[in-house]
Amino acid sequence: MLYTVRNFLVAFFAFGVALYALVAYGFFTLGSLVHPAMKTSFMAHSIGIYAHVFASAIALLLGPLQFSTKLRANYITLHRWNGRVYLFLGVLLGGSAGLYVAQFAYGGLLAKTGFSLLAMAWLHSGFMAYSAIRRNNIAEHQRWMQRNFALTFAAVTLRIYLGSFMAAGVRFEVFYPWLAWLCWVPNLLLMEWWLGSFKSEEE
Ligand code: HEM
Repeated sequence: MLYTVRNFLVAFFAFGVALYALVAYGFFTLGSLVHPAMKTSFMAHSIGIYAHVFASAIALLLGPLQFSTKLRANYITLHRWNGRVYLFLGVLLGGSAGLYVAQFAYGGLLAKTGFSLLAMAWLHSGFMAYSAIRRNNIAEHQRWMQRNFALTFAAVTLRIYLGSFMAAGVRFEVFYPWLAWLCWVPNLLLMEWWLGSFKSEEE
């Protein structure tokens, strides 16, 4: 029951942020919905931003479906194709473009380093998940995919923290650089805990 509620909430927020991104970047002028300080950089690297936003939104839309045991059991071909699109279009293109736009991110070195490491971890975990399934190691594939999606979910947690800081009256230039870390490090730690990575051998 708890597992189902968790999956539902994850999918709900992931779809919500993906739809926001598709509408905001498909129908509005570039930079019109972000903080004015970010607009110039977005306009200067528009191809990178569009590639990043649309490809990553695909990862957010397709990712939650991959964890459905029913889908895997009854429609394995769909799981495979969904997974290929998720990894090659969503993660590979979205992550490479994310790494590129991270170099121009608002918030100085702190933000640039945080977003760059997120992009590298996203690409790395995607590669490890793919390489595991090519070797037919299903357990390892699942673990890397769970890590990978915890990082995809950074797009959701970033916006939750952003809204919370704004509601609390913290200035954008103060909190934004920290968001580049806060949006993914706790997600990854929580996932490692869930996967039992911190358990000692004796336990
Ligand atoms: C997980 C790896 C990701 C990395 C490394 C990353 C990195 C970045 C960076 C550096 C920016 C520009 C920020 C700035 O200029 O200050 C950005 C913006 C953005 N990213 Fe990502 N991102 C990731 C995942 C995602 C995902 C999964 C989505 C899905 C929708 C997404 C959607 C967006 C959007 C919509 C923006 C524009 C800002 C906004 O409208 O709120 N990103 N991302």
